[in-house]
Amino acid sequence: MLRVATEFFSLPVEEKLKLYSDDPSKTMRLSTSFNVNKEKVHNWRDYLRLHCYPLEKYVPEWPSNPSSFKDVVSNYSKEVRALGYRIEELISESLGLESPRMPRVLGDQGQHMAVNFYPPCPEPELTYGLPGHTDPNALTILLQDLQVAGLQVLKDGKWLAIQPIPDAFVINIGDQLQALSNGKYRSVWHRAVVNADKPRMSIASFLCPSDDALISPPESLVEEGSVAVYRDFTYAEYYKKFWSRNLDQEHCLELFKNSRNPAAGSDTSSSILKTS
Ligand code: OGA
Ligand code: NI
Repeated sequence: MLRVATEFFSLPVEEKLKLYSDDPSKTMRLSTSFNVNKEKVHNWRDYLRLHCYPLEKYVPEWPSNPSSFKDVVSNYSKEVRALGYRIEELISESLGLESPRMPRVLGDQGQHMAVNFYPPCPEPELTYGLPGHTDPNALTILLQDLQVAGLQVLKDGKWLAIQPIPDAFVINIGDQLQALSNGKYRSVWHRAVVNADKPRMSIASFLCPSDDALISPPESLVEEGSVAVYRDFTYAEYYKKFWSRNLDQEHCLELFKNSRNPAAGSDTSSSILKTS
């Protein structure tokens, strides 16, 4: 997967430009930064974004150069999907729910991939590859470049570098699992920094609830006499809101907070981000 991704980003610029688009609604596109039409400050990243489920529907529109791209990425997508479903089952169990609960509520999940390419940056202290954000989907499976680190996560108010480990993925909880678990699982704040010397690659696979999945925590996770931390919403509603905004704004999930919940204060992690 990493080899084919490297080959793709090594293609001549004219070849890659044929796939360029800054329209987030496109199901296959090469783009840059995050959301170029919404953001004031751009990031030092190029990315290829693909829809990966159902494969029969989307593979035909994927790049055919390099020639092994479709085969390699299809196989990878299938394996990663199975792993993601297994992890969601285990998360259900950990919450005292039946194991098929989470994947069932999430419906026939969509799957997207971001192949991230961070070129060497002459002044890395002036920019990010990706600024601090949480992923808007349910679960993210991230394959990191083994040679070049760059991922950081926010823990106890501090950014920690996540060193790549051979044969291991980074699993990130996204906004939807935070809402569905009524805040028991937290959507992780993370960012990518760039460096002056070497390009870095990362491959993020996102499992996304089906558009009509109703994101509403099970009763057993809501304290008696209380209301859920977040109001019920569909994933379609959330996703639309997410892409209408930019990463440097307040956490999208905050906009879905139940105002009737006495515990609904402001999210401290997002205020830390604003000052950093
Ligand atoms: C992402 C992401 C981190 C990385 O694509 O959402 O957070 O290490 N990527 O590239
Ligand atoms: Ni992310």
